[in-house]
Amino acid sequence: MKKSSSDPIGVFDSGLGGLTVLKELIKALPHERIIYLGDTARVPYGNKSHETVIRYAFENTRFLLRRGIKLLIIACNTASAYSMDAVKYAFHVCSLGVIQPGARAAVQNTRSGKVAIIGTSGTILSKAYPKAIHDLNSDIVTYEKACPLFVPLVEEGWMDNEVTEMVARSYLGSMIGREIDTLILGCTHYPLLKGVISRVMGPDVRLVDSAEETAKDAKTLLKGIDLLAPDHSEGGYQVFVTDLPQQFSNVASLFLGMDQVPVERVIVDEIV
Ligand code: DGL
Repeated sequence: MKKSSSDPIGVFDSGLGGLTVLKELIKALPHERIIYLGDTARVPYGNKSHETVIRYAFENTRFLLRRGIKLLIIACNTASAYSMDAVKYAFHVCSLGVIQPGARAAVQNTRSGKVAIIGTSGTILSKAYPKAIHDLNSDIVTYEKACPLFVPLVEEGWMDNEVTEMVARSYLGSMIGREIDTLILGCTHYPLLKGVISRVMGPDVRLVDSAEETAKDAKTLLKGIDLLAPDHSEGGYQVFVTDLPQQFSNVASLFLGMDQVPVERVIVDEIV
C-alpha cells in the first residue's frame, strides 16, 4: 500500500534501552508520530541466539506493520546486527537499523584509524560493526569488547557509581594505550553510561552514540523519499510493551525527561 507522510514511524527494541533512540527521534523529528514497542517480556536479546532474535524481530515488525508504519527503525543493536537483512528481505519495508549510522559516524570521526566497539555478546559475536566499518574503509583497525554487565547496571539505575566504574575499567582496560580515538556505544543502554565510559577512556576518545546518528539518518531518509511529516502536523508517540507497563512507564519518564509516559501492554500472542 502507498505510504503517506502522515503515517507513523515504528520503532522496536528488546525493552527500554531503545528509548534512547526514541528520545533522539522526538528531538530530530518533532512532527512525526512514533510508535515504540519494547519487548519487555523477552528482554534481553543480547545473549540469545541468532535464530531466536530473528523470530522476535519478525514478530515485532508484524505488530508495527499492522499499525501502518511508513518506516521501521530497529533500535536494538543486537536485533539490528542479527535481523536487519532478514527483515528487509521478508517484509520489503523501508527500514533502518542502528549499526550503519554508528559505523559511518565512527569512520568519519577517526583520525588515528583505530576504532573500538562495545556491545552485547550477540552484537560483538555477529561482527556487524566491523563489517559495516570495513565496507566504508578497510584500513581501519577495530577492537571489540562485549560488556554484558553494562545492561543490568543501567536497568538498576547504576549509571555512575563505584561499581559501574570498576566494571568499566575491567572491560575497557585493554583498549587503553592503543591510540583508539573513537568508541562506538553499540548498545541501546550504553549512552546512559557516557560519563563513566568517557572517564575510563579519557578525553581524547570520542564516544559515538548510535541513537543520535540513527535519528539523523531517519530524517535524511524520510526527506529523500518525500515522506517527512509536514511542519504543521502535531507529532507524538505511543509506547507499547509486552509485559507489565507500570515500571516501564516510570523508567520511560526518566529516560525521556517527561512527567508521565503512558504505556500500553500488548500480549505476546498479539504480535505472533
Ligand atoms: N537492546 C539491546 C541492544 O542494543 C540491549 C539489551 C538486550 O540485551 O536486549 O543490543
